[in-house]
Amino acid sequence: MSDLPVLLVTRRLPVAVEARAARDYDVRLNADDSQYDADALISNSRDVDAILTCSTEKFTADVIEKLSPRLRAIATFSVGYEHIDVTAAKARGLIVTNTPDVLTNATADIALLCLLGAARRQYESTAMLRESRWGRWDATSLLGVHMTGKRLGILGMGRIGRAVAKRARAFDMEIHYSNRSRLTPGLEDGAIFHDNPEDMLSQADFLSINCPSTPETYHFLDARRIDLLPDGAVVVNTARGDIVDDEALITAAMSGKISGVGMDVYEGEPKFHEGYLSLPNAFLLPHIGSATVDTRDAMGFRALDNLDAIFAGKEAQDTLT
Ligand code: DGY
Repeated sequence: MSDLPVLLVTRRLPVAVEARAARDYDVRLNADDSQYDADALISNSRDVDAILTCSTEKFTADVIEKLSPRLRAIATFSVGYEHIDVTAAKARGLIVTNTPDVLTNATADIALLCLLGAARRQYESTAMLRESRWGRWDATSLLGVHMTGKRLGILGMGRIGRAVAKRARAFDMEIHYSNRSRLTPGLEDGAIFHDNPEDMLSQADFLSINCPSTPETYHFLDARRIDLLPDGAVVVNTARGDIVDDEALITAAMSGKISGVGMDVYEGEPKFHEGYLSLPNAFLLPHIGSATVDTRDAMGFRALDNLDAIFAGKEAQDTLT
């Protein structure tokens, strides 16, 4: 019998990550990547010391209460941790960690892709080619919204929001942001702070949502707030789907109030509001913000670094408080 800590891995992870986990832990992998609901999480966690999970598994207070009594830690392979009731986990003495930093650039890249894809009508343009509808070049069709020099509002100026700002500066955009607290001048780097996010909306020709999903941000972008945006604004969400009221955003994109939407995340994903599919001005991706080979390896290694620290009796660098 191995004296390594027993580690449950709830999803298939990159080969290098699973190999390292198998080297250092008595590992229980999810070979067919089946979906673990509450009952499966509870039964598969029997006699495990740690769980390495993803944002697809829901650790509610009820699930947490029923997990193995010997469990010490839950490490999530994600920066977002709204799927784990951290308060309930801490109350039963569990350490919860996430994977910040390593996915910042990949996610910011996708935010820029969404901004450009929505503003420059990627969906309609590509459809024209794929459906053999391209006639002669002409001066008046598929005219998009110019991004360079415009105002970008960033909701949530954490690591990813700041990386979006950095990229947007290369487009000479004027950066506005709203955040729980104002950044230091160094981190702000000339961005204009709005204490009240609603004040930022009227300045946002482009809006990039980069804040976490919390009870406070739930459906932040609703019909009333969409009305505050300039006519023809472009809205991009690469954070979490439930920050947007889909019905309101789709209605606004249909009316032209919003000229384009770029979405990588959806409320209730992998299901999503079908209205997005009927929008010609929507650039849609299936939650691929962190989906590069390097980034996904780095996320797995970061999660394992955290577990290694815990089992070495040290503090994990990404312990959630
Ligand atoms: C994250 O890390 O939070 C990504 O969105 C994947 O869940």
